Amino acid sequence: MRVLVIGSGGREHALCWAISSSPLCDTLFCAPGNPGIADEAACVPVAPNDIDGIVKLCKQEKIDFVVVGPEGPLVAGAVDTLEANGIAAFGPSAAAAALEGSKAFAKDLCAKYNIPTAAYRRFTDPAAAKDYIRKHKAPIVVKADGLAAGKGVTVATTTRQALAAVDAAMVAKKFGDAGAEIVVEDFLEGEEVSFFALVDGKRALGLASAQDHKRIGDGDTGPNTGGMGAYSPAPVLTAELEVQVMEKIVLPTVHAMRDEGRPYKGVLYVGLILTKDGPQVIEYNCRFGDPECQVLLTRLKSDLLPALIAAHDGELEDFDLRWRDEVALCVVLAAKGYPGTPVKGSEIRGLDVAAGADTSVRIFHAGTKRVGDKLLADGGRVLNVVARGRSVREAQKRAYAVVDKIDWPQGFCRRDIGWRAIGRRRASAPVSEKAPQ
Ligand code: AMP
Ligand code: GLY
Repeated sequence: MRVLVIGSGGREHALCWAISSSPLCDTLFCAPGNPGIADEAACVPVAPNDIDGIVKLCKQEKIDFVVVGPEGPLVAGAVDTLEANGIAAFGPSAAAAALEGSKAFAKDLCAKYNIPTAAYRRFTDPAAAKDYIRKHKAPIVVKADGLAAGKGVTVATTTRQALAAVDAAMVAKKFGDAGAEIVVEDFLEGEEVSFFALVDGKRALGLASAQDHKRIGDGDTGPNTGGMGAYSPAPVLTAELEVQVMEKIVLPTVHAMRDEGRPYKGVLYVGLILTKDGPQVIEYNCRFGDPECQVLLTRLKSDLLPALIAAHDGELEDFDLRWRDEVALCVVLAAKGYPGTPVKGSEIRGLDVAAGADTSVRIFHAGTKRVGDKLLADGGRVLNVVARGRSVREAQKRAYAVVDKIDWPQGFCRRDIGWRAIGRRRASAPVSEKAPQ
C-alpha cells in the first residue's frame, strides 16, 4: 500500500514512524514532512493547505491512503476533495470537522443533544456580548468561533479582561473572520484532561487519555502555547471516569453527528474539565493532538494503519488495540522567543548522541530543517523528546536525561512535564519508583 501523511510537525513525525513500521505500508510519503520524517518517508514539498497540489501528488504517486494530520486542511475540506477524486483519506469531512472549526456549532450540538458542557451564548454583536459579560461577571471565557491557531480563547479572571477580549476579536479583528462570531461561556473549575477516540461514522473506539501542558512556564504559568509537553495515560481520568466520558460525551457526539447528517470519521479529541458534576467538554478537536499524538503512539503496541483504515471504512466494530502497560511522556523543546516570534536558524547538535542507546526514548522533529549537514531550528516548537517508563516519574527522568544531552543553547523547555500526576501520587501516598501507572 502507498500511504501519504499530510503535515510537518512532531505529530506527523510520530504518525510516519508508526505507519512506516506497518507491514501494510510499502511506500510512505509525507507532504511536506521535515528532516526527522525524512528517515521514515519520502518528503515532498507540497503545503498541507494546497489541496489541489495534494490531489495532484496522490495521482502522480498512485497513493492508496492519505492520513491528514492538522486541522487546517480538514476544516477546509481536504478529505472531501480527496474522496471526490477517488482517493481514500483518513479524517473528518469539512461538515464533520466543524466540531473544531466552529465553536458555536460545537456548543449548539452539545446543547441540542444534552452533552455536558459550560452554559454559553453566541454573539455577532460586540455590544450585546459586553452586556452579557457585565451581567454574568468574571471569571468567564471568551472564544473566537473559528480556527485561531490555539490563540482564540481568553479565560478572563476580570470583567475588564473579558471586555477587552471581545474588542480584540470583534473590533480589532485579531483573528480575522474567525472572530466575527464569539462564544461566551461559563468558567468551569476542575482539572483539564484530554481523551482520544477513533470514530468510523457510527461507532467509537476509545484510545487513551493524555494531559497536555499548554502554558509556556513551569507550574502552568505564562501565555498559552500549542503544548509544551504531555503524558499518557493521565491518572486523573480513572477507569470509571473514562467510561463516563465514552457514554456521556464521545458516543453521544458520534450519534449526534450522524443524526445531523455530518457523520464523523477520524480521530475525535475531546478536551475536558473534570468538574465536581463530572466531565464536561471545553473543546472538540478533529485530529490527533500535538504533542499528545507522540505519547499515544509511543504506547501503542498494535499496528496503527489497519485501525485508521477500519475507521475510514466504517468497520471499527470488534476492532481492538493493544497498548503498552507503560506511561509515555513528551518534553517539547522550543526556540527562544516562542510563543511569540521564535528565533529561527540556530544550529542543533548532538541528537544522535543524546538519544544514545536508550531505546525507551525517541526524538521526534517538530520544526527543523537541514541545510547541508547542519540541522537548524525552523519553528516555535522544534523537537519532542518522548520517553517510556513504568511511572510518570520514571518516564520524566529518562526524557530529561536525553533533553540535557542535546546541544542547542538557543532552545528551552519546561522542566516540570508530568508534575500534576507526580504531585498527586506524592500527595496521596509514598509511591515506589517502580509503581505501575
Ligand atoms: P481551547 O483553545 O478551547 O483549548 O481553550 C484554551 C484553554 O482555555 C483550555 O485549554 C482551557 O485551559 C481553557 N478553557 C477553555 N474553556 C474553558 C472553560 N469553559 N472553563 C475554564 N477553562 C477553559
Ligand atoms: N496540544 C493541543 C492541541 O493539539 O490542540
